[in-house]
Amino acid sequence: MDKSRYYLECIDCGMKYDANEVVYTCLKCDGLLSVEFDWSKIPSRLDKIWRRKAFSVWRYLELLPIDERAKIVTLGEGGTSLNHCLKLSKSLGLEWVYAKNEGENPTGSFKDRGMTVGVTKAVELRMKRVACASTGNTSASLAAYAAKAGLECFVLIPAGKVAFGKLTQALIHGARVIQIKGNFDEALGIIRKICLTHPIYLLNSLNPFRLEGQKTTAFEIWDQMNHKVPDKVIVPVGNAGNISAIWKGFKELHQLGLAENLPKMIGIQAEGAAPIANSMRQGLQQVRFIDKPETVATAIRIGSPVNWRKAVKAIKESNGLVETVSDDEILEAQRILARLEGLFVEPASAASIAGLKRLAYSRLIEKDEKVVCILTGHGLKDPDIVMRQCPTPIEAEATIDSVIRIILEEDVAHVTMT
Ligand code: F0G
Repeated sequence: MDKSRYYLECIDCGMKYDANEVVYTCLKCDGLLSVEFDWSKIPSRLDKIWRRKAFSVWRYLELLPIDERAKIVTLGEGGTSLNHCLKLSKSLGLEWVYAKNEGENPTGSFKDRGMTVGVTKAVELRMKRVACASTGNTSASLAAYAAKAGLECFVLIPAGKVAFGKLTQALIHGARVIQIKGNFDEALGIIRKICLTHPIYLLNSLNPFRLEGQKTTAFEIWDQMNHKVPDKVIVPVGNAGNISAIWKGFKELHQLGLAENLPKMIGIQAEGAAPIANSMRQGLQQVRFIDKPETVATAIRIGSPVNWRKAVKAIKESNGLVETVSDDEILEAQRILARLEGLFVEPASAASIAGLKRLAYSRLIEKDEKVVCILTGHGLKDPDIVMRQCPTPIEAEATIDSVIRIILEEDVAHVTMT
């Protein structure tokens, strides 16, 4: 593949960098970097090429910044389902609510889309060690892909604030897990500095190659909607990489003439961790960071989102908006989605459904609009939070009599309730 197909560009000052340089932010102005393609080197009629390939992240290879196919580190990521949520739609007075179930990815979250590309890039760059700070899912994903690639992996997590399932994943895949007595923002600050001065490849969403993998969510939605885009896409926002990546994906489809329209991007933050929402509401030009973010959705418990500039751009360019939801609304949305649609997601993912509900009640979503909610991670990642809210299982003697008595009692209870 032609190595000069793509390069890195600073989103603030436009400075360009060779894609083989290990650089995370602009060396001139510290701005965020973005992978940009030389469109003259991208084949035409990509839709025809893609149609012949399996439905996965790597179907879109022509728009991914990887040179050596043989080195691709994959666990079978992407190709997740897009569910038409009929009952949920109806309960909100809407018709076309869809859920993109990213919990179907190999490690149970959307992070795998980014890691397959980011870890492949680490291999191409001949890096032997990789690292990240994480609220849980990034570390679980990086640990798995590093294991597959045979790289040494270090992860920094906020002590006591990472869901059990995610911590278990990082440990079983052999990552060196370092719990810091601080929050995610502090962990990222530390690992960022270490990676700048040591030959360790940083795989947080500051890394523009990782975000390239995540933009394939947009490509898949377009594919699943018969080469059309939805009216609105709702994304939970933490470090703000995913909403930026998905918007980039839609823009590229539009630029290539593959999609006629563009969706509005809607970001959802938890009330106690909403620096972007609060700042945008106040009309600030810069996002004001929060020192002590707090939410039950630990995955998005972030006060200083590094990608805020990209996210604000995505929201403004797309004519979208940003909304906040309370912890109670998040947990209620998690239950509703599980009961009505059979989809079990972690609290951060349920934030997109809680946001949908708020916007539907405020009439900011029209009945016939097509809305896609991104369900970012699987519910099994964080079972503790569920067990705290659900009724405990009913105990019975191991006899038919005692079980049937309970079933019949339950029947009566059910009939009187409905
Ligand atoms: N949903 C889940 C389940 C997440 O794990 C994250 C981020 C987000 C949403 C927000 O995505 O940061 O791109 O805005 N988790 C990161 C981690 C921070 O370390 O696992 P974002």
